[in-house]
Amino acid sequence: MNSRKIVSLSLAVIVLATMLAACSGSATRAAPTSAPETKPFVVASDASFPPMEYVDETKAIVGFDIDMMNAVAAAMGFKVEYKNTAWDGIFAGLEGAAYDAVLSAVTVTDERKQKYDFSEPYVNAGQIVVVRTDETAITGDKTLAGKLVGAQIGTTGAFAVQKIEGAKLKEYDTIDLAMLDLLNKNVDAVVVDTPVAANYVLASENFKGKLKLVGTPFTEEYYGVLVRKGDPTGFLPKFNEGLKKIKADGTYDKIYAKWIGVSPAK
Ligand code: ARG
Repeated sequence: MNSRKIVSLSLAVIVLATMLAACSGSATRAAPTSAPETKPFVVASDASFPPMEYVDETKAIVGFDIDMMNAVAAAMGFKVEYKNTAWDGIFAGLEGAAYDAVLSAVTVTDERKQKYDFSEPYVNAGQIVVVRTDETAITGDKTLAGKLVGAQIGTTGAFAVQKIEGAKLKEYDTIDLAMLDLLNKNVDAVVVDTPVAANYVLASENFKGKLKLVGTPFTEEYYGVLVRKGDPTGFLPKFNEGLKKIKADGTYDKIYAKWIGVSPAK
């Protein structure tokens, strides 16, 4: 082997080694030079809860929560990536760090606060009773004894029904299945967050005109975004500051009017 051949051979070895190192580096972790700010916050949402979050005809996740979060992200200069996630298991996924936050019309409760950290509350949304339009005996939460009542499993709606003496709870994976069963007379009523109840009764293609709200909201509840205890990704201060900004500049009110209709209780 002459010296030229040796030089070109060793060059080839160096190039190959460099390429291999580059490959294995990118396979294990992102280049350390990429700024952490550009990495999107991964947010899980059970997109089956209109108008808060649902999948539209174009298969996009839309709703109040999405518009609000996008506005907050724009105001604060961070990126968000949404992960459609079944409600049953959405908290477990957060604990397993499958995503950074849950944005899913989640009610802030004392029980949940023991396990997770919440943002500032962003919507007032108590439970309300939904019945078929021809229903006369059920006039609100006080008239549910002896009745079969549908709710989404593991939600504050289901917890509220469990507390009503004499009411029997039937649980569903998603709220639209409960509404369908109500329409088909398999349950007598459904209990769910007021914005969602109002959406089914007033705006839903399949349900409007066939269902009605009775009584007034009978729990006091607020939605919050939740993260793992200690907020390891530093999300909450950014979200809370952004929420303040979009409330101050009128963006929040516009989003509220668009999706929930009535102007937000101040
Ligand atoms: N607010 C209720 C709760 O936190 C129901 C939330 C259900 N959200 C959903 N996207 N399915 O228990």
